[in-house]
Amino acid sequence: MPASNTRFGSSPSVAKCKSITLTAKCGEPVIMPVVALGLWKVPADAAFSAVTSALDGGYRHLDCAPVYRNQAIVGAAITAYLTEHAETLSRRDLFITSKVFPSPTNMHDNFENDVRNTLRELDLKYLDLCLIHWPFEYEESSLEDMWMAMEDLVKNGLVKAIGVSNFSSTKLKRILEIAEIPVSVNQVEMHAMFRQEALVNFCNNNGVHVTAYGPLGSGDQWASDGLGRKCAAEERLLSHPETLRVAKSAGCTPAQALIAWIVHHRMCSCAPKSVNPSRQAENIAAGSRDFVNNNKILGLLSTLDKVEPQVRLQHGAFHTGPPESGKCFRTLEELWDEDVSYMLDRDFERPEGFMLRPSQ
Ligand SMILES: NC(=O)c1ccc[n+]([C@@H]2O[C@H](COP(=O)([O-])OP(=O)(O)OC[C@H]3O[C@@H](n4cnc5c(N)ncnc54)[C@H](OP(=O)(O)O)[C@@H]3O)[C@@H](O)[C@H]2O)c1
Repeated sequence: MPASNTRFGSSPSVAKCKSITLTAKCGEPVIMPVVALGLWKVPADAAFSAVTSALDGGYRHLDCAPVYRNQAIVGAAITAYLTEHAETLSRRDLFITSKVFPSPTNMHDNFENDVRNTLRELDLKYLDLCLIHWPFEYEESSLEDMWMAMEDLVKNGLVKAIGVSNFSSTKLKRILEIAEIPVSVNQVEMHAMFRQEALVNFCNNNGVHVTAYGPLGSGDQWASDGLGRKCAAEERLLSHPETLRVAKSAGCTPAQALIAWIVHHRMCSCAPKSVNPSRQAENIAAGSRDFVNNNKILGLLSTLDKVEPQVRLQHGAFHTGPPESGKCFRTLEELWDEDVSYMLDRDFERPEGFMLRPSQ
């Protein structure tokens, strides 16, 4: 096979995969494929084959994190794949995202160590994108301190672009006020059942690209053979009547309708997780330009702008607690900076000492 000179390798499905240029500052454009393989909940013993089949199917963007506890296997799969396809694919054809997780024992001073560990696990010399996983701040370490530590990661050549995850516009504003290196991405829960219009508009107006996590409704969180968590909604996104209606009219699968809505209608990127090669193929195909060019789906997608209910599925209650819990948020209102009253009567996991609102 001839050596590839395209940015994302020679596979036909890759050439068609839509990508965007991030606002970044590293002397070269940082180009991100808009569909990543999500790696949360991929068991370590399934990660090698999941990454290999995804790369075979044209994925060039992997969404990793140390807390997903599979980075070493993901790294082994990347190395094996690059070795086997050395003539057509190189490291620069891939886009690897990972994250740093602030905690009372992992303040900003440790971010560099954290990223070096991640790079060791992934067997890489640099990350394309590194995100602050959650906006946790502690007395000793503010969000602003953490952002400065993120900027050092770029200055030290460990990462090309930096961003945040799970940041409200209130918290993001604080970073934007002091950032010398652009905030490239805010990775947040976003899908037709939690559209986040105000936050997406805020990000768009400030040059921050939004990556949608849980784009298919995160079904394996609620499944008894998955994480077995309680879901805060009765409806499931993949089987929601509006999702099924769009998919049927467009002649695509429900997952493809949801991904196309994010990528081609909301102009965001997303990280669907799948360990199943045919679902992986389905998901990445929906992110290609041809998918909307050759399909009547584009005109149907606005139907998903009206889906009800709107529910934050990744509610974050685990990250709240009383002062003695060591959690930095007491309430969900403090975490999300938004009206959470719609969660009042929902039956989801509430850790001991958890409060929805300060008055409770
Ligand atoms: N930054 C953060 O705090 C954060 C939080 C949550 C998630 N994330 C990222 O976002 C990624 C995606 O979110 P998620 O894993 O919660 O959920 P998701 O991608 O919305 O949903 C994953 C579920 O959908 C199934 N699925 C995948 N493709 C399908 C298809 N074509 N048809 C039917 N079912 C399909 C998967 O099953 P199979 O695997 O069996 O196919 C799995 O059960 C994560 O893996 C992670 O990388 C980030």
